[in-house]
Amino acid sequence: MPALEGKVALIAGGGTGIGRATAELFGQEGARVVVFGRRPEPLAETVDAIVKAGGVAAAVSGDVGSEADVARFVGTARAQYGGVDCLVNCAAVRLRSALLEISAADFAEVLRINLIGAFILTKTAAPAMRERGGGSIIHLGSALGTVAAPDFSPYVASKGGVHQLARAAAVELVQDEIRVNVVAPGTIDTAIGQGVPEFRRHLLKHRIPIGRAGHVDDVASLCLYLASDASKYMTGAIIPIDGGWTAS
Ligand SMILES: NC(=O)c1ccc[n+]([C@@H]2O[C@H](COP(=O)([O-])OP(=O)(O)OC[C@H]3O[C@@H](n4cnc5c(N)ncnc54)[C@H](OP(=O)(O)O)[C@@H]3O)[C@@H](O)[C@H]2O)c1
Repeated sequence: MPALEGKVALIAGGGTGIGRATAELFGQEGARVVVFGRRPEPLAETVDAIVKAGGVAAAVSGDVGSEADVARFVGTARAQYGGVDCLVNCAAVRLRSALLEISAADFAEVLRINLIGAFILTKTAAPAMRERGGGSIIHLGSALGTVAAPDFSPYVASKGGVHQLARAAAVELVQDEIRVNVVAPGTIDTAIGQGVPEFRRHLLKHRIPIGRAGHVDDVASLCLYLASDASKYMTGAIIPIDGGWTAS
Protein backbone atom coordinates (compact mmCIF):
# COMPACT_ATOMS: atom_id res chain seq x y z
CA MET A 1 0.00 0.00 0.00
CA PRO A 2 1.32 3.53 -0.74
CA ALA A 3 2.81 5.15 2.39
CA LEU A 4 0.30 8.02 2.55
CA GLU A 5 -2.84 6.31 1.24
CA GLY A 6 -5.95 8.15 2.50
CA LYS A 7 -3.98 11.03 4.02
CA VAL A 8 -4.32 14.75 3.32
CA ALA A 9 -1.07 16.76 3.14
CA LEU A 10 -0.48 20.51 3.28
CA ILE A 11 2.75 21.68 1.62
CA ALA A 12 3.66 25.32 2.25
CA GLY A 13 6.18 26.48 -0.36
CA GLY A 14 4.96 23.65 -2.59
CA GLY A 15 5.39 25.52 -5.89
CA THR A 16 9.18 25.19 -6.13
CA GLY A 17 12.27 23.36 -4.96
CA ILE A 18 12.03 20.98 -2.02
CA GLY A 19 8.33 21.74 -1.52
CA ARG A 20 7.48 20.83 -5.09
CA ALA A 21 9.47 17.57 -4.98
CA THR A 22 7.77 16.69 -1.68
CA ALA A 23 4.30 17.51 -3.02
CA GLU A 24 4.87 15.33 -6.09
CA LEU A 25 6.23 12.43 -4.01
CA PHE A 26 3.35 12.67 -1.54
CA GLY A 27 0.89 12.65 -4.48
CA GLN A 28 2.54 9.49 -5.84
CA GLU A 29 2.29 7.92 -2.38
CA GLY A 30 -1.48 8.34 -2.24
CA ALA A 31 -1.91 11.65 -0.36
CA ARG A 32 -4.33 14.31 -1.49
CA VAL A 33 -2.15 17.41 -1.53
CA VAL A 34 -2.80 21.14 -1.07
CA VAL A 35 0.13 23.41 -2.01
CA PHE A 36 0.57 27.00 -0.82
CA GLY A 37 2.81 29.96 -1.71
CA ARG A 38 2.62 33.58 -2.87
CA ARG A 39 2.84 33.05 -6.65
CA PRO A 40 -0.03 31.13 -8.31
CA GLU A 41 1.97 30.02 -11.41
CA PRO A 42 4.46 27.64 -9.77
CA LEU A 43 1.67 26.23 -7.58
CA ALA A 44 -0.40 25.49 -10.71
CA GLU A 45 2.62 23.67 -12.23
CA THR A 46 2.91 21.45 -9.15
CA VAL A 47 -0.81 20.66 -9.23
CA ASP A 48 -0.60 19.82 -12.96
CA ALA A 49 2.35 17.49 -12.38
CA ILE A 50 0.55 15.65 -9.55
CA VAL A 51 -2.69 15.31 -11.50
CA LYS A 52 -0.86 14.13 -14.66
CA ALA A 53 0.78 11.41 -12.54
CA GLY A 54 -2.68 10.25 -11.41
CA GLY A 55 -2.81 12.06 -8.05
CA VAL A 56 -5.17 14.59 -6.46
CA ALA A 57 -4.08 18.16 -5.64
CA ALA A 58 -5.24 21.74 -5.18
CA ALA A 59 -3.47 25.09 -4.78
CA VAL A 60 -4.05 28.11 -2.54
CA SER A 61 -2.00 31.28 -2.96
CA GLY A 62 -1.16 33.46 0.01
CA ASP A 63 1.44 34.66 2.47
CA VAL A 64 2.58 32.32 5.22
CA GLY A 65 2.86 35.29 7.60
CA SER A 66 -0.86 36.06 7.26
CA GLU A 67 -3.22 34.26 9.62
CA ALA A 68 -6.13 34.82 7.22
CA ASP A 69 -4.22 33.34 4.24
CA VAL A 70 -3.08 30.31 6.23
CA ALA A 71 -6.66 29.79 7.48
CA ARG A 72 -7.77 29.67 3.81
CA PHE A 73 -5.02 27.12 3.10
CA VAL A 74 -6.05 24.80 5.93
CA GLY A 75 -9.76 25.48 5.27
CA THR A 76 -9.36 24.35 1.64
CA ALA A 77 -7.94 20.98 2.74
CA ARG A 78 -10.81 20.49 5.19
CA ALA A 79 -13.50 21.57 2.71
CA GLN A 80 -12.18 19.66 -0.32
CA TYR A 81 -10.59 16.59 1.27
CA GLY A 82 -12.20 16.32 4.73
CA GLY A 83 -9.29 17.21 7.04
CA VAL A 84 -5.53 17.44 7.49
CA ASP A 85 -3.05 14.67 8.40
CA CYS A 86 0.32 16.22 7.63
CA LEU A 87 1.95 19.57 7.07
CA VAL A 88 5.32 20.15 5.44
CA ASN A 89 6.50 23.72 5.84
CA CYS A 90 9.00 24.62 3.10
CA ALA A 91 8.12 28.33 2.90
CA ALA A 92 11.10 30.57 3.59
CA VAL A 93 13.22 33.43 2.30
CA ARG A 94 16.96 34.02 2.69
CA LEU A 95 18.48 37.50 2.83
CA ARG A 96 22.22 37.93 2.35
CA SER A 97 23.75 40.97 3.98
CA ALA A 98 26.35 41.90 6.59
CA LEU A 99 24.76 42.09 10.04
CA LEU A 100 25.79 45.74 10.49
CA GLU A 101 24.07 46.75 7.25
CA ILE A 102 20.66 45.14 7.74
CA SER A 103 17.75 47.36 8.73
CA ALA A 104 15.53 46.21 11.58
CA ALA A 105 12.62 46.13 9.12
CA ASP A 106 14.45 43.73 6.76
CA PHE A 107 15.52 41.54 9.68
CA ALA A 108 11.93 41.46 10.96
CA GLU A 109 10.57 40.52 7.51
CA VAL A 110 12.76 37.38 7.38
CA LEU A 111 11.58 36.40 10.88
CA ARG A 112 7.96 37.14 9.91
CA ILE A 113 8.08 34.70 6.99
CA ASN A 114 10.43 32.00 8.30
CA LEU A 115 9.61 31.90 12.02
CA ILE A 116 6.22 33.56 12.60
CA GLY A 117 5.01 31.77 9.46
CA ALA A 118 6.06 28.42 10.99
CA PHE A 119 4.15 29.33 14.15
CA ILE A 120 1.00 30.36 12.24
CA LEU A 121 1.08 27.17 10.16
CA THR A 122 1.51 25.02 13.27
CA LYS A 123 -1.20 26.82 15.21
CA THR A 124 -3.69 26.67 12.33
CA ALA A 125 -3.04 23.09 11.16
CA ALA A 126 -2.88 21.41 14.58
CA PRO A 127 -6.62 21.73 15.45
CA ALA A 128 -7.51 20.17 12.06
CA MET A 129 -5.10 17.28 12.80
CA ARG A 130 -6.56 16.86 16.28
CA GLU A 131 -9.99 16.34 14.69
CA ARG A 132 -8.49 13.38 12.76
CA GLY A 133 -6.91 11.87 15.89
CA GLY A 134 -3.37 13.14 15.26
CA GLY A 135 -0.91 14.04 12.55
CA SER A 136 2.64 14.90 11.53
CA ILE A 137 4.16 18.37 11.16
CA ILE A 138 7.51 18.74 9.39
CA HIS A 139 9.30 22.07 9.33
CA LEU A 140 12.23 22.70 7.01
CA GLY A 141 14.97 24.03 9.25
CA SER A 142 18.56 24.32 8.06
CA ALA A 143 22.16 23.46 8.88
CA LEU A 144 22.22 27.24 9.49
CA GLY A 145 19.77 26.67 12.35
CA THR A 146 22.53 24.71 14.07
CA VAL A 147 25.77 26.38 12.91
CA ALA A 148 26.32 29.93 11.66
CA ALA A 149 27.83 31.44 8.51
CA PRO A 150 28.71 35.09 7.88
CA ASP A 151 26.22 37.42 6.14
CA PHE A 152 23.04 35.45 6.80
CA SER A 153 22.15 36.57 10.33
CA PRO A 154 18.34 36.89 9.98
CA TYR A 155 18.13 33.52 8.22
CA VAL A 156 20.39 31.87 10.83
CA ALA A 157 18.32 33.39 13.65
CA SER A 158 15.04 32.40 12.01
CA LYS A 159 16.11 28.79 11.43
CA GLY A 160 17.46 28.43 14.98
CA GLY A 161 14.04 29.69 16.07
CA VAL A 162 12.25 27.17 13.84
CA HIS A 163 14.28 24.31 15.40
CA GLN A 164 13.28 25.38 18.92
CA LEU A 165 9.67 26.20 17.94
CA ALA A 166 9.36 22.64 16.62
CA ARG A 167 10.69 21.19 19.88
CA ALA A 168 8.27 23.36 21.88
CA ALA A 169 5.36 22.30 19.67
CA ALA A 170 6.43 18.62 19.86
CA VAL A 171 6.25 18.49 23.65
CA GLU A 172 2.95 20.39 23.77
CA LEU A 173 1.11 18.67 20.91
CA VAL A 174 2.08 15.14 21.93
CA GLN A 175 -1.17 15.04 23.93
CA ASP A 176 -3.06 15.34 20.63
CA GLU A 177 -0.91 12.65 18.98
CA ILE A 178 0.61 15.27 16.70
CA ARG A 179 4.31 14.72 16.01
CA VAL A 180 6.54 17.68 15.11
CA ASN A 181 9.97 17.21 13.54
CA VAL A 182 12.53 19.28 11.62
CA VAL A 183 14.39 18.37 8.46
CA ALA A 184 17.60 20.42 8.39
CA PRO A 185 19.23 20.46 4.92
CA GLY A 186 22.76 21.62 4.17
CA THR A 187 22.98 22.79 0.57
CA ILE A 188 20.45 21.45 -1.91
CA ASP A 189 20.06 22.21 -5.65
CA THR A 190 17.24 24.81 -5.56
CA ALA A 191 16.77 28.59 -5.98
CA ILE A 192 17.67 29.21 -2.31
CA GLY A 193 20.50 26.65 -2.40
CA GLN A 194 22.14 28.03 -5.55
CA GLY A 195 21.47 31.72 -4.89
CA VAL A 196 24.95 32.54 -3.60
CA PRO A 197 27.46 30.69 -5.82
CA GLU A 198 30.71 31.62 -4.03
CA PHE A 199 29.23 30.69 -0.61
CA ARG A 200 28.16 27.39 -2.09
CA ARG A 201 31.59 26.70 -3.64
CA HIS A 202 33.23 27.38 -0.26
CA LEU A 203 30.78 25.03 1.49
CA LEU A 204 31.28 22.20 -0.95
CA LYS A 205 35.08 22.48 -0.82
CA HIS A 206 35.62 23.05 2.90
CA ARG A 207 32.53 22.12 4.88
CA ILE A 208 30.70 19.18 3.31
CA PRO A 209 32.48 15.80 3.59
CA ILE A 210 30.34 14.23 0.83
CA GLY A 211 31.62 17.08 -1.41
CA ARG A 212 28.48 17.73 -3.44
CA ALA A 213 25.10 19.36 -3.03
CA GLY A 214 22.03 17.31 -2.20
CA HIS A 215 19.06 16.78 -4.50
CA VAL A 216 15.48 17.80 -3.73
CA ASP A 217 14.44 14.14 -3.90
CA ASP A 218 16.82 13.31 -1.01
CA VAL A 219 14.91 15.77 1.17
CA ALA A 220 11.47 14.75 -0.11
CA SER A 221 12.19 11.11 0.86
CA LEU A 222 13.00 12.14 4.42
CA CYS A 223 9.79 14.21 4.59
CA LEU A 224 7.85 11.15 3.37
CA TYR A 225 9.32 9.03 6.16
CA LEU A 226 8.42 11.66 8.77
CA ALA A 227 4.88 12.05 7.40
CA SER A 228 4.25 8.30 7.33
CA ASP A 229 3.45 5.94 10.18
CA ALA A 230 6.95 4.40 9.77
CA SER A 231 8.24 7.28 11.97
CA LYS A 232 5.51 7.01 14.62
CA TYR A 233 8.00 7.04 17.55
CA MET A 234 9.74 10.22 16.35
CA THR A 235 8.86 13.66 17.61
CA GLY A 236 10.92 16.74 18.51
CA ALA A 237 13.80 15.56 16.30
CA ILE A 238 16.07 17.85 14.27
CA ILE A 239 17.38 15.69 11.45
CA PRO A 240 20.39 16.91 9.44
CA ILE A 241 20.45 16.05 5.74
CA ASP A 242 23.62 17.92 4.88
CA GLY A 243 26.30 15.61 3.45
CA GLY A 244 28.04 15.61 6.85
CA TRP A 245 28.37 19.42 7.15
CA THR A 246 27.25 19.78 10.77
CA ALA A 247 29.10 16.60 11.81
CA SER A 248 32.47 17.85 10.54
N1 LIG B 1 18.02 24.58 -0.79
C1 LIG B 1 18.85 24.59 0.25
O1 LIG B 1 20.07 24.52 0.10
C2 LIG B 1 18.29 24.68 1.64
C3 LIG B 1 19.17 24.53 2.70
C4 LIG B 1 18.68 24.59 4.00
C5 LIG B 1 17.32 24.81 4.21
N2 LIG B 1 16.50 24.96 3.15
C6 LIG B 1 15.09 25.21 3.44
O2 LIG B 1 14.25 24.39 2.66
C7 LIG B 1 12.99 25.06 2.46
C8 LIG B 1 12.63 25.04 0.98
O3 LIG B 1 13.56 25.86 0.28
P1 LIG B 1 14.00 25.55 -1.23
O4 LIG B 1 15.44 25.27 -1.20
O5 LIG B 1 13.07 24.59 -1.84
O6 LIG B 1 13.85 27.02 -1.90
P2 LIG B 1 12.68 27.69 -2.75
O7 LIG B 1 12.49 26.92 -4.01
O8 LIG B 1 13.03 29.13 -2.84
O9 LIG B 1 11.38 27.49 -1.84
C9 LIG B 1 10.89 28.46 -0.95
C10 LIG B 1 9.39 28.50 -1.12
O10 LIG B 1 8.83 29.36 -0.13
C11 LIG B 1 7.77 30.09 -0.72
N3 LIG B 1 7.60 31.33 0.06
C12 LIG B 1 8.52 32.29 0.29
N4 LIG B 1 8.00 33.28 1.01
C13 LIG B 1 6.69 32.94 1.25
C14 LIG B 1 5.63 33.58 1.92
N5 LIG B 1 5.77 34.78 2.51
N6 LIG B 1 4.42 32.95 1.97
C15 LIG B 1 4.25 31.74 1.36
N7 LIG B 1 5.24 31.09 0.72
C16 LIG B 1 6.45 31.69 0.65
C17 LIG B 1 8.23 30.36 -2.15
O11 LIG B 1 7.15 30.57 -3.04
P3 LIG B 1 6.65 32.07 -3.40
O12 LIG B 1 7.88 32.88 -3.67
O13 LIG B 1 5.76 31.88 -4.58
O14 LIG B 1 5.89 32.52 -2.20
C18 LIG B 1 8.96 29.05 -2.47
O15 LIG B 1 8.08 28.13 -3.09
C19 LIG B 1 13.16 26.46 3.06
O16 LIG B 1 12.67 26.46 4.39
C20 LIG B 1 14.67 26.63 3.10
O17 LIG B 1 15.08 27.56 4.08
C21 LIG B 1 16.93 24.91 1.87
